Amino acid sequence: MTERIVLAYSGGLDTSVAIGWIGEATGAEVIAVAVDVGQGGESLETIRQRALGCGAVEAYVADASDEFANEYCVPTLKANALYQGHYPLVSAISRPVIVKHLVKAAREFGATTVAHGCTGKGNDQVRFEVGIQTLGPDLKCIAPVRDLALTRDKAIAFAEDKGLPIETTKKNPYSIDQNVWGRAVETGYLEDIWNAPTKDIYDYTAAPEFPPAPDEVTISFEAGVPVAIDGVKVTPLQAIKELNRRAGAQGVGRIDVVEDRLVGIKSREIYEAPGAMALITAHKHLEDITIEREQARFKATVGQRWAELVYDGQWFSPLKRSLDAFIEDTQRYVTGDIRMVLHGGQAIVNGRRSGTSLYDFDLATYDTGDTFDQSMARGFIELWGMSAKVASGRDIRVAGK
Ligand code: ARG
Repeated sequence: MTERIVLAYSGGLDTSVAIGWIGEATGAEVIAVAVDVGQGGESLETIRQRALGCGAVEAYVADASDEFANEYCVPTLKANALYQGHYPLVSAISRPVIVKHLVKAAREFGATTVAHGCTGKGNDQVRFEVGIQTLGPDLKCIAPVRDLALTRDKAIAFAEDKGLPIETTKKNPYSIDQNVWGRAVETGYLEDIWNAPTKDIYDYTAAPEFPPAPDEVTISFEAGVPVAIDGVKVTPLQAIKELNRRAGAQGVGRIDVVEDRLVGIKSREIYEAPGAMALITAHKHLEDITIEREQARFKATVGQRWAELVYDGQWFSPLKRSLDAFIEDTQRYVTGDIRMVLHGGQAIVNGRRSGTSLYDFDLATYDTGDTFDQSMARGFIELWGMSAKVASGRDIRVAGK
């Protein structure tokens, strides 16, 4: 039987050419798999037909948009995950869900190998292959761009030579990856890190310099999950989409950073994640009133570690699973409403309420009705400073010798 290879297919030039390129290099049949993670653009049926037109023996499309929102974006939100304090892991969380569907397709179509279109310089190759190793340890991996020397020039020549049904003239100067959680743009003009991004780079956000009238929105959460916007019930996918639209119109969620890739390179990235950044901001503010102080402090370090693991392609790892269990436990009381104003590139919270809040008006107030006994503070501070005071006494003694 002819060997079969499942290819992660985007519909773009590189993966379209990869279908025939892999076939010629290996003699295998190629099954193209496209996964909808809310990236928008062309219809999946158009993409499917193109794969078949480029020589795939089967083309399979998976609608994973709700799955992606529920099982990948929501955990990222619960973790308030921002890699290096900036990046909400847009591409990093989409690779594991794509891998899941690739492995499923490999089983369905009897493939022995999985292929992806990544280069050898980025994080995405790691995320694909570590994911595949974990979910399908018997499957082999190939990357035509990296392993079969499929360069851009060769791709264009191959497409023209074979008359493939794909545009070869429209050269996008940037490498773009997008899904419902956000959009990542890199390479080209952006590689000079002093160059400011030009207007044409953005697609999910309008220029924050010229915003429309302020937009006040109330987001309701239940156990850390967004469940309603302005009182209207929504699924996580609907919440992200609605906030992409409303926060995007105000230019919220533009990020320009130089980040540390797993392969040791620092790289310039432009992200747009209006819905994700508005949701993370709201969620964090709700945690501020519903999570106990020590648990909250510890959760911040867990969230940071979680973001690093996910960035580094360890979505399916044991440590990530253990951290998920911790984070899930912290979300028990993260239920309530956050009101925020979206305007001019900012999402600013101006009200919060929760039936499970730890904010105690009677303890906090400086007005009459205060139940906080201020006389306790004196002794508390005395003991709190004791250990450092003893040490400083020692320092003075030693220095005096
Ligand atoms: N640097 C980001 C990350 O590693 C974005 C990668 C985007 N991928 C792409 N092919 N443009 O998560």
